[in-house]
Amino acid sequence: MEFGLKDKRILVTAAASGIGRAIASAFSADGARVHICDIDAAALRTCSADLPLAGASLADVSDIAAVDALFAAVEENLGGLDFLINNAGIAGPTGPVEACAPEEWRRTLAVGLDGTFLCTRRAVPLLKAAGGGGIVNIASTAGILGYPLRSPYDAAKWGVIGLTKSLAMELGEAGIRVNAICPGSVGGERMERVIAAEAKARDWSLDEVRGIYLKHVSLRSFVAAEDIANMVLFVCSDAGARISGQALAVDGHTESLAGKPGGCVKPRKQADERSSGKQPAPRWTRSPP
Ligand SMILES: NC(=O)c1ccc[n+]([C@@H]2O[C@H](COP(=O)([O-])OP(=O)(O)OC[C@H]3O[C@@H](n4cnc5c(N)ncnc54)[C@H](O)[C@@H]3O)[C@@H](O)[C@H]2O)c1
Repeated sequence: MEFGLKDKRILVTAAASGIGRAIASAFSADGARVHICDIDAAALRTCSADLPLAGASLADVSDIAAVDALFAAVEENLGGLDFLINNAGIAGPTGPVEACAPEEWRRTLAVGLDGTFLCTRRAVPLLKAAGGGGIVNIASTAGILGYPLRSPYDAAKWGVIGLTKSLAMELGEAGIRVNAICPGSVGGERMERVIAAEAKARDWSLDEVRGIYLKHVSLRSFVAAEDIANMVLFVCSDAGARISGQALAVDGHTESLAGKPGGCVKPRKQADERSSGKQPAPRWTRSPP
């Protein structure tokens, strides 16, 4: 697929692996000049060796000084900016809100929401100087729906979508489009690791865990990182020139997040344990309404 983004100047945050790497790779393949950042030095080196990048910075997006240094490097390497892709975001803790440590809450929002703000505030003057461009924030279907037992992540992603909508209004006159892309669960090696860990922790089979993840996705499949990258490039291309202020899901249509393994107990197993007289092992359950 070609998107006509040759020589566009792009910054992708948290792009040494995962979805960010797929986005950086797709921009590079389209002829764009790409700078990335990440906190993982080894992964940054591997990514720089694999992809024809214009630059790579070791930077934590939640650190004001590190973001300042990142943008100094971007200006030096790219001589300006056409698109900022705010991809950084961490999963945060899984569990009931009363068990969430304030530091975990703050860290989840610091990376996912503050990091988006810190990079955006440095990018906007460059985008204005370029005469327009865009910001794409990688949110999540969790930014559209409620997500029991993942409240810090959910709050960060709702915040990202709120920021997206406000900035689209604030920056539209300057020709800057601001959109959020909302991935569903991304399949592949990482997802298989999540499924394996979940299966082990709950003594469920891999298929049972996978089935619960897929049950509430209309297309009954995970998405690929490349699906997300394609959507990012589309909204940055001329074909997406009239798209702004949107939260676009690429997720096979997530009907609900309430049934994900983190958000439910498996009733059959508990019933089996009760009938065998065994005390059910403590599990996360959803709080009563
Ligand atoms: N993977 C999914 O299923 C999924 C689903 C919905 C939304 N998302 C969102 O997509 C984005 C990317 O997710 P992913 O699964 O590829 O992530 P990931 O966990 O694979 O991490 C990608 C990269 O982020 C880097 N990183 C972590 N904290 C950072 C920080 N503070 N500053 C800079 N870099 C940092 C890591 O070192 C890693 O290289 C996130 O915003 C995530 O919330 C992911």
